Amino acid sequence: MRNISLHPDTIAEIKDKVELVDVVSEYVVLQKKGHDLLGLCPFHDEKTPSFSVNPSKQLYYCFGCGAGGGAIKFLMEINKQSFKDVVLDLASRYQVPIKTLAEEDQQKIQKQISTGEQLYEILAVATSFYQHSLAKEEGTNALKYLKDQRNLSPDNIEKFKLGYAPDGWDTLYHYLVEVKHYPVTLVEQTGLIRKRTKGEGYIDYFRNRLMIPIQDANGKIIAFGARSLDGNEPKYLNSPDTPLFSKSQTLYGLNFAKKTIAQEDKVIVVEGYFDAIALHENGVSNAVAVLGTALTQKHIKLLSRYSESKTIIVNFDADIAGVKATERVIKEVESLVYSGQINLKVLTIPNGKDADEFLKSSPDSITKYRELIKNSPLWLDWEIEQIINNRNLQNSSDYNLAFQSILKLLTKISNESTKDFYLTRCAETLSTKRSQYSGLNSQEFKSIRQNLQFSLKKNYHNPYNNKKSSKVDGKSSQNKEVEKAEFLLLLIYLHCPDYREIIVNELDDKDLVFSIKYYRFLWQEINLVLENLTENNTHNNLLITVQENIVNHPDLAEKLTNIFHLSENDEQILFQPADYIQRQIALLQTIKLEKYNQYCQQQMSQLNQEKDFIKMTYYYEEFKATEAKLYELNPQRIQ
Ligand code: UTP
Ligand code: MN
Repeated sequence: MRNISLHPDTIAEIKDKVELVDVVSEYVVLQKKGHDLLGLCPFHDEKTPSFSVNPSKQLYYCFGCGAGGGAIKFLMEINKQSFKDVVLDLASRYQVPIKTLAEEDQQKIQKQISTGEQLYEILAVATSFYQHSLAKEEGTNALKYLKDQRNLSPDNIEKFKLGYAPDGWDTLYHYLVEVKHYPVTLVEQTGLIRKRTKGEGYIDYFRNRLMIPIQDANGKIIAFGARSLDGNEPKYLNSPDTPLFSKSQTLYGLNFAKKTIAQEDKVIVVEGYFDAIALHENGVSNAVAVLGTALTQKHIKLLSRYSESKTIIVNFDADIAGVKATERVIKEVESLVYSGQINLKVLTIPNGKDADEFLKSSPDSITKYRELIKNSPLWLDWEIEQIINNRNLQNSSDYNLAFQSILKLLTKISNESTKDFYLTRCAETLSTKRSQYSGLNSQEFKSIRQNLQFSLKKNYHNPYNNKKSSKVDGKSSQNKEVEKAEFLLLLIYLHCPDYREIIVNELDDKDLVFSIKYYRFLWQEINLVLENLTENNTHNNLLITVQENIVNHPDLAEKLTNIFHLSENDEQILFQPADYIQRQIALLQTIKLEKYNQYCQQQMSQLNQEKDFIKMTYYYEEFKATEAKLYELNPQRIQ
C-alpha cells in the first residue's frame, strides 16, 4: 500500500524525535538499573531480565539473545513491519510532516494522517452533543441519576464530560452528517452510527443512554461507554473497536489518573466506569477501570510506564466472579509477577461490595478504603489465602491439596530469596492451620518446610520455570540417556549369552520396552531369529544371523553397526555385565516413572479441586507413590 519513497530529511527528523524508552515500554516492562533500563526480552523466552535499554545512546541490547538496535529496528522486529511502515507510523505519532521524493505521494500520506485527525474531531463533537443533551430537558432523568444515584458533583460531571444520548433513532447521525457535514463513511468509522440492518440509511449506535467518553492517555476521546437508564440490555454498551480504539488496550480514566499514579507510585484498577469515577470523586485519583474485559498484558505495560515501582493494585469485586477475574489477572501477567517485574497487590472490599457501592455506604468509607489500599496484600499472600481459606487442613486430603497448590505456587517464583521467604511463610501457615490447639508446632513446621523444600528442589512441578529451551535440552539429554541404556542392554544381550535371560526377565518384570526406533527394530529382529533357530545352535548363531538379516534395512543398519563390533570401552563392560544391566534397567525405570510423575502433576493442575475431588486424590496418591519409587531407585542409578 505504502508505495512511496521517503525523503531522507523526514527519516532524520523522526530518528531525532523518537524516544526509545517510550517505544520499548509499550512492549516491555522496564526497570531502572543504573543508567540503563532493564526488562524481560520480547524477542526470546526468558525469566530473568537481560534486555537493556540505554536512553542516552538510544540503543537496546539483549544479553540473552543478542538482539539489538534503535527504535526503528525494534519496531520493525517486534511488529514484523517494513522500515517504511514503521517510519510512517512514527511520523504520525510524533507529528513529523512527511516529505517524500514524489509529489503525489505527499498527498496520499497527508490524507491518511488527516483521516485520523478527523475521527478524533468527530468524537469530540459528538461528546459536546451528548453533554448538551444532558443539560437539556431530554436529559433531566439522566442528570438526576448522576446526582442522586451516583452522588456526582457538577464539577465531576463536567470533568468526566458525561452526557446523554437522546432516545431518537438517528439524532446524532442527523447532527453530524446533515448539520455538520462530516462524511458519513468517516462517522461510521468512529462507531457512533451503523448501517440499518433493513433498508437504507444509518442509525445511532447509542440511544437513550448515559454517555461516558473514553479518553486515551493524552485525553483524546476515542470511544464511549454507555449505561442504559431504562433497564434495557446490555446494561453497559461500549463502542465497537475502531481504528482509534481497542478495548483490551485501553484503561478508563488513565488521562486523569496518570499524574497521581506517578506521584503515589501506584495505580488502582477497578472493574467499572463508576467505580473509577467514584474513587476520583472521593480524591483517590490514581484509579482506572478496565472496559468490561480482563486486565491484559497490554494494560499492565501501559500502566507500568507511569509507576516506578510498578505497583498495581487490583480491586475487583469480591464475589466469585471477581475472585476468578483476579486469578485471571495473575495468570495473564504470570511471567511479570513471578519474576518480580511488577508489584501486584489485591484489594478486597468486605461484604462483596464494589468500590462505588462501598464509598456510598458510609461517611467514613473513604478513610476505610484508604486503609484497604495500604494493607492490600501482595498477590502471593492473596493466593496463599485463597488456597488456605475454606479448607480444613486437619483433614488430610484437604491438607494434601493445599500442600500441592502451595508447591505449585512456590515453584514458579524465580527469585531465590523471595522463594525462600515464602517457603518459610507457607510452612508456618500450613503447620499453624494443621494443629488446631497449639498454634505453631515447631517440629511440624520444620518437617513441612523440609518437605516443601525437598519437593521444590526436584523441580518437577514447574511448567513455567521449565522454559521451552530447557525443556528441549532436558528432553534431548534424557533421550541420550535412554539411547545409551538401551544400547548397553542390547550390547550385553548380543555378546554375553549367559546374561540374556536376566535381561529379558528384568524388562518383563519392570514392564519396559525399547523406545529408540532402531533398537526396537533390532529387538524384534533378535526375537524373530530366536524363533527360527534350533535349540543347540542358538547362542553361536544369533549375532551373525541378526547381522545378516538387518543388512536388508540399510537405514537402520547404519545406526546399529557399533553394537556388533565391540570397542575397547565396551569390552570393559563385558567384565561385569550384571552391574551394568542393573544400572541401565534402573535408569530406564526412572525415566519412565518421571514421565508418569509429571503426567500425574499435569492432571492435578488441570483438575478442578472441588468438582474432580476423587480424580484429584487418585492422581495425588499416584504422584506420591511414584515419588517414593523414584526415591528408592536413586542410589541404584549412581554410576
Ligand atoms: P457491573 O455490572 O459490575 O457494573 O459492570 P456496576 O458498577 O456494578 O454497575 P452499576 O453500578 O449498576 O452501574 C462493571 C463493568 O463491566 C462492564 C462495564 O465496563 C462496567 O463498568 N460491563 C458491564 C459491560 O461492558 N457490559 C455490561 O452489560 C455490563
Ligand atoms: Mn457499581
